Amino acid sequence: MAGTVAGVVQRVVSDTIHLNLFTMNSVEHVSPGSWRQPGDRSHEYTDREYWTEVARTAERGGFTAVFFADVRGVYDVYGGDRETAIRKAVQTPANDPTYLLPAMAEVTDELGFAVTRSTTYQHPYELARQFSTLDHLTDGRVAFNVVTSYLESAAVNLGLDERMDKQTRYDRADEFLDVCYALWEASWDEDAVVRDRERGVFTEPDRVHRIDHEGEFFDVPGPHGCEPSPQRTPVVFQAGSSERGREFAARNAEAVFCSQPTMEGVREYVTDLRERAADYGRDPDRLAFFPGVVPVVGETTAAAEATYERLRDNVDVEATLALLSGFLDMDLSELDPDQRIEHIETDAIQGTMNAFTQTDPDREWTVREVAEFSGLGTTSPVVVGSPEEIADELERWVDETGVDGFNVKEIVRTGSLDDFVDLVCPELSERGLLPDAERTTLRDRLFGDGSRLPASHPGRQ
Ligand SMILES: Cc1cc2nc3c(=O)[nH]c(=O)nc-3n(C[C@H](O)[C@H](O)[C@H](O)COP(=O)(O)O)c2cc1C
Repeated sequence: MAGTVAGVVQRVVSDTIHLNLFTMNSVEHVSPGSWRQPGDRSHEYTDREYWTEVARTAERGGFTAVFFADVRGVYDVYGGDRETAIRKAVQTPANDPTYLLPAMAEVTDELGFAVTRSTTYQHPYELARQFSTLDHLTDGRVAFNVVTSYLESAAVNLGLDERMDKQTRYDRADEFLDVCYALWEASWDEDAVVRDRERGVFTEPDRVHRIDHEGEFFDVPGPHGCEPSPQRTPVVFQAGSSERGREFAARNAEAVFCSQPTMEGVREYVTDLRERAADYGRDPDRLAFFPGVVPVVGETTAAAEATYERLRDNVDVEATLALLSGFLDMDLSELDPDQRIEHIETDAIQGTMNAFTQTDPDREWTVREVAEFSGLGTTSPVVVGSPEEIADELERWVDETGVDGFNVKEIVRTGSLDDFVDLVCPELSERGLLPDAERTTLRDRLFGDGSRLPASHPGRQ
């Protein structure tokens, strides 16, 4: 099936809807103030049992993956200090998500795990080892969400005087991935490990190769220290909206997060990225797209609307402004609440800026409107209704934008996930929309063409 037919973007990867739980190993992710909602258990994020329960629930619902956001630094742009963010738990405190995976993999069979790691503050030789290990321990169910990090407060804690500019961060990220691809794909031959007890040869040395990478940012001779894992290269996820971020995604990403709040915005993004991917010699249909969605479900429409009103009333506007100030690298405390947000090219997250200044040219957003809209899941659409209404709306998004599924954002933890799994997933399943779980690895489950990077991907060697 083609990517675009007569101006209509088609769904190309499969006829099913992939669901990723969009979460973070922290109290708050993208619904500031939600820890105060009745019944919220997000303070249990420090407990292993909390995460194994989340994994079991997501797998029961037919989710494809749990996606872990992660951030370095604290949100100290709002008001010029970290006070609001710390007081209100704005993505701090947050633990490292990586260590949760073995426990969550242990209690599930098919669920995938996408982990966010920064190419700005790590070394590719180290990161390649971490992901090979995770891919082994999860039986090939791991994805790497590549981020370049946006908070200045991360840079100064990690050995730099200031944050690198975005162009340099993405240049480094491209080279970082080239090193990783070489380590994962080219360093060990498929038949390198022979485990020949008689000859006393575990690995044939001439089947393990140096990579001899010499570049602007890294010199890595290799070889890789790990034997090949089921997927070798983890599934590559990314979310870039700036011009440079889109180029990076077009070259590297297999799955892309969209941050546009409208169907038109998502459609434009999907079409643009598929065209750019083709320019890199890639199969444009081999990219999967996942917009965020914030479902508020009830057994009836009236029940869902009542829940939505309650959730909205409890949004913490100040905490939302602290979060957005970090996303935009703009101190929103300095602006009049009724002042219009002007478009800038930000060195932080362009997608958040574009959502409010470019997605709909006829709509102007004031600071107050942005804060109220963003309190439940930042830029993602909130979908309120009965299970049938939510399923209808998800199907409509898929049919009209060509996306492959959704990042399902939580408000109350774990209540939002529990309700979605108990009420919406059975409806999606009945409509035959949830993907087949009988696949060997996360990549195979997403794309149905095996566990390895496809031949047209620049990382496949
Ligand atoms: C949906 C979405 C999720 C993201 N998750 C993270 C994250 O967990 N950690 C992080 O450091 N950056 C995250 N980002 C930031 C991006 O990966 C990217 O680095 C940032 O958007 C800057 O690039 P851009 O201006 O090209 O969009 C996210 C962005 C989007 C749109």
